[in-house]
Order: sequence, then C-alpha cells, then structure tokens
Amino acid sequence: MLFNSPAPRNPIDNETVVSHPHVRIDGPLKVSGQARYAYEYNDEIPNAAYGFILGAGIATGSIRSIDTNAAESAPGVLLVLTYKNAPKQGDDGSPQLQGADIKHYDQAIAFVVAETFEQARAAARLIKIEYTKSKGAFDLNAVKDTGSMTRAAADTHMGDFQKAFSTAAASVDVTYTTPNQSHSMMEPHASIAKWDGDKLTVYMAHQIIHSAQANIADTFGIPQDNVRVVSAYIGGGFGSKLVVYADPILAAMAARQLGRPVKVALTRPQIYNHTTHRAATIQRLRLGAGPDGRLTAVGHQVWCGNQPGHGPENAAAQTKLLYPGDNRWIETRLSELDLPIGAAMRAPGEAAGLLALECAMDELAEKLNIDPVELRIRNDIQYDPEVGPSRPFSTRKLVQCMQTGAERFGWSKRNPKPGQVRNGEWLVGIGVAAAIRNNPVRPSGARATIDRNGILTIETQQTDIGTGSYTILAMIGAEMLGLPVDSVRVKLGDSDFPEAAGSGGSFGANSSSTGVYYTCSALRDEIVRRSGLNTTDVSFSDGSVISQGRSIRLADIAGDAGISAEEKAEFGDLQKKFAQAAFGAHFAEVGVDIATGEIRVRRMLSVCAAGRIINPMTARSQCLGGMTMGIGAALMEECIVDKRYGYFVNHDLAEYQVPVHADIPDLDVVFLDEVDDQSSPIRAKGIGELGICGVGAAVANAVYNACGVRVRDYPLTMDKII
Ligand code: MOS
Repeated sequence: MLFNSPAPRNPIDNETVVSHPHVRIDGPLKVSGQARYAYEYNDEIPNAAYGFILGAGIATGSIRSIDTNAAESAPGVLLVLTYKNAPKQGDDGSPQLQGADIKHYDQAIAFVVAETFEQARAAARLIKIEYTKSKGAFDLNAVKDTGSMTRAAADTHMGDFQKAFSTAAASVDVTYTTPNQSHSMMEPHASIAKWDGDKLTVYMAHQIIHSAQANIADTFGIPQDNVRVVSAYIGGGFGSKLVVYADPILAAMAARQLGRPVKVALTRPQIYNHTTHRAATIQRLRLGAGPDGRLTAVGHQVWCGNQPGHGPENAAAQTKLLYPGDNRWIETRLSELDLPIGAAMRAPGEAAGLLALECAMDELAEKLNIDPVELRIRNDIQYDPEVGPSRPFSTRKLVQCMQTGAERFGWSKRNPKPGQVRNGEWLVGIGVAAAIRNNPVRPSGARATIDRNGILTIETQQTDIGTGSYTILAMIGAEMLGLPVDSVRVKLGDSDFPEAAGSGGSFGANSSSTGVYYTCSALRDEIVRRSGLNTTDVSFSDGSVISQGRSIRLADIAGDAGISAEEKAEFGDLQKKFAQAAFGAHFAEVGVDIATGEIRVRRMLSVCAAGRIINPMTARSQCLGGMTMGIGAALMEECIVDKRYGYFVNHDLAEYQVPVHADIPDLDVVFLDEVDDQSSPIRAKGIGELGICGVGAAVANAVYNACGVRVRDYPLTMDKII
C-alpha cells in the first residue's frame, strides 16, 4: 500500500493499546538468557568450528611476506585463510583477503579456524608477517585543506553571505572540533555461517536484514535467495551494524571450504579499529543576527576525512533546516584519511553538527544579550529555509518544546552571567540546546496470521536493536485486531520474513509500524469477508469482530487453517512536499569543581515533539539513551588517534570512556502531544536519534554558564577547563 496523502482516521487513533506505556514483550526472554544473539545458536549449529580474525598491525602499506606454517600445524587448527588462498569475491559486497594491500589498521589479513576459540586465537599469533609500510595521512587538521573528495555533501550558497555577516548587529565566528567516536555497543559483531549445498545461512548481528543479505550474496556472487540472514536479537547497533564487516564473510568462506559451520565474534578491541566509527570534524560557524536576534547570516563549514569511496560526516545537514536566515554559506569538505572507515553512528552528521551549531547559538545569544531560549524562539521557522514556504514542516513544535522545557526546568532562575552560582566546591550552571532529527521512512512489509486460538502472529524482517520494535509491533497488531498485547506473537529479523525497513536513520519504528498496520488492515478485511458480517460499521475488540450488534470470535473465523495477510508499506512524495523532522529542547545543569575542573551533570530534561508516541515507555528509554550518549559526547568519548601509526589507541571499554551510572543523574523526558498526518497512518515520527541531537551542546553551554570557560574542542575534559 502506498502512503501518499494525509493519513485518514483509522483504528490506531483509538489508542486503546497504542500510546499507553508497555513493558518490553521480549524482556523476560532477555533477562532469562533465552533471547539468542548471533553467537548463541549452539543448538541449531552444534558442530561449529571457531574462527579468529587477525588484523593488520600497520595502517597503510602492504604485506611483504606472510608465513602461516606454524599456525597451520598448531593444535586444533583446521584452516588458515589469507589473501594467498582466499577465493575471488565481488567488489559490490564486502570482499575480504583480496590482496596484499593494507588500507587501515586492523583490516582483516588472516582468518584462522580451529576446534576451539582459544586454539584459533593462539594459532593466529603464530602467523609471521612482514610489512612494507607506506606513509599515511592520519591527522585531520593537517589534511583538511588538501582538497575535496567527490562524495562531500551539497553546498548551500544563498544571498550575499559575506555582506550580511560583516554588517550584522551581532555575530560570532567560532571553530569547534569534534573527535572520532566509537559506537561501543554491548554486543560485539558476531556471525555463524552454515552451508546446505549452495544455500548459505548466516546468523549475524545486522540492523537491516535485506541489505546484509544482498551484500553477502554480492560478495560470493550467488543469488540473494540462496542467502538467509537471521538477526533475531541484537545487542545494540547505533549504526555500527549497518555495515557488513569481515566476520560473516570469513565465516561463510571458511564454512564452505571446510564443509562445516564456522562461528566468529570480533573481540572488543577489534570493534574500534576493524569496524567503523563516527569521524572527527572541524566546524567553523559564522552566525550573524539583527538587534532583534533574528538570524541574517548562517555560515557553517565542515571539514572531515575518510577513506576513498566513503562519505563525509554530514555535520551541516541540520543547519540547512533548523534556522532561518536569507544569507547562507554552508559547505562540507572531505579529505582523504587513512584511519579506519568513518560511517554512520547514531544521528550521523547532526549529532556532531549540533554540538557546534547549538554552542555557537549560545555564544551569539550572549553577544546579543538575549536569553538563549528566547533566541531559539525568535528564530523559529515553519518551513524549509532553503526552499521557502512552499515546503512547510509537517509539524514543528520547537517553540513549544523550548517553552515547556524552560518552565519545567526552572530556566527563569538561570543567572545569565557565568560563574555566579556556587554550591560548596562546585560552580553550577545551566544550558539549553535545540534538537532536530529528520523523519525518513523506508518501504516495509509484514505478514500477519490469526490462528484458531485467536493468537495473532506478525512476521517481518524488521529488527530490534534494543529499541523496542518487538513491543511496538505487537501493540500495533493488538490495536488493529482488538486483542490484548499478550495475544500477539512477533517474529523479527529473518530474511525468510517479508522485507522490512530495518533499524537505522530513525526510520525503523514509523516505517515498520506502517507495514504492520497495512498488513493488519488487509487481515481485518479478510476476516470481515469470511465472517459474513455486514461490512459497514465493523469494529474489532475483545478478540472478536463486531458489526451491528453481532459479534464473532476471531478464533472461530480463523478455523484450523488460520487466516494470513501480507502487505508492504510504501511511501510517496510527502517527504518532498513537507520537511519532516522531530524536534526537541534539551536542558542541562552541571557542576564544575572549582579546584579540579571536574564536571558532573546534575540533572537534565528533554522535551520532545516527535509525532504520536507509540510506546511512551520504550520511547522514553530511547531518549534517555540518547541523552546518556550526549553526556558521553560532551564530556568523555574520544577515540585517540596515534598520528604516527594511524590507529585508535584506546580500543577497549576501559580506555574509551562512556558514561556509567554514576555519570547519569536525574534525567527526565517529556513528550508533547503531537500527531503528524503527513508522516504515516501511525502519525508517528522517528525517535531513536532525537535524544542525542544537541544534548551535548546543552551540557557544554551549562559548563560555560557555570564557570565561564568556553571549550570548543570536544570532549570537555578537565584539562581543558583548568
Ligand atoms: Mo543509525 S546511525 O542509522 O543506526
């Protein structure tokens, strides 16, 4: 079904189940260890051999010699793959071991398979390698002006920026830097591969099933239908599991050669250099405003680096949408870097971009002597500033988010002069930032079956990366069929199910819910048809279909054979006609230790407007997670680049700092009432990335308000405050 005009009134609007908080239906399976993750299919695959990936010990150059003799004769070893004996693979997939060239540190250069993990790991250490090193570029600052690679984002040049900026009543010209960051999700990437004749099954951790399936098929040059991908439970993704790395490919390659299943998990240290990361940026913000605070000049230049063939950290993307200003100069420049590959990490682009933009707005507010909340309110715009009123926002409640947040947080008590509020050894400050995250949608299908016990089963490729997909899809099914949630079974993350959006880009919940909605609509139609009831005035409740006083149980209509329906949601051009985004306002209070510069977040509040909130409980958790990651981005997260050798030095969770419980005090989330008729029949918007957008800037602005030190180089560590 095509969604291409404003959503009509429909059963979701009843909100019998939807919009009420619901605990995760997969929670008991998870806490009792019954939810199986990729590496845990021991019953189905009892005879798997263990693989260990050996990564390159240099960043750029080539392998001069590789001696695998000792490894091959080590105890338990079944196979050692290197570029010398690996089969040729397709460039469209994720080919591994295709030559002696090294493109980045910890790139897979050998794969050892043995009877046990320990044997494979021990044997990998017996491989003797000699490298020919070549000079690499590892320092963004040094290469930023070397020119651009072609995949940079589109520039905006509107009006006469130079003139508007130089004649503005108040202006700021400030440069912010954001570091490389690692997803550091809990579950490391893992795969088990098994061949049955020419059919390959891969249990792996991937956010989008059909894209993993296509990638693996292309790598091996086999039909997509011959590859089954299963990612039923996923221990976090944050974008890291949008990419196919070496684990499924090498496992499948070795499994085919050995005629035996092979399993492999990346080690925690391998996550940092073997997989992708959020790439560092340098961002120059030039903002100019009239005396009323209204922006007249919006300048945002972004410099970043990546491997050839990979894109930029699109940090200016939201600057194009968030604020008005007739004169605009927005540019992204991408230079070649030989660090590990930069790619999407939660709110790719906007998370890093808003760290800079929303602090620059704070700096501008101070210059204008206008309250930072008031400055955002004065710069509200209800349409896409680069297109004009012909492209309105479908909904935009940023002003309401700001006002509600200011009221609830006690913003009026803020002393605008930094360094004035003292509490014992702490200087205390509060800060604000705006949040915006686009609301994309993707095609998404599902199958729904009602059985003779009145149980509804929903099957779809949609994944749940810890976000709550299982639960919201059960809620949609329950609402549509008039069932309690515990009469709905949800099966996810298997390429045998109808193709679905998957989890990424904040499109998962809205898209997959729409797919399940259309599927359940079709199922309702079929149930009504078979019931013989009058088709006007039909409703579904209490496990029955009801029309004009007659009620028939769904279980009775389903009969022994059950009734199934399959549908796919597709989306027309409403995303072009309307700018669609979720909005939020983040408030943070911090304490800065007067002696040490230690920063402690004391409390935070996010007020969000993100369309209909399908499950307020899991949506809240999404925002809390985003806010927590925002604290990390503001205060601690950074992959430290060794500029001599080109790798991330702090490659484990002991040294790559993320917030822990003691770093996360009183966090609160408020959702404004909102429905978006243009977003989908569910009237929902994505929420997965909104929570991280801007939140780090609110923390940094609070630090400035507390102590008067403006740090423009993230993360704000103690050494930069003192
Ligand atoms: Mo997201 S970075 O699209 O998982």
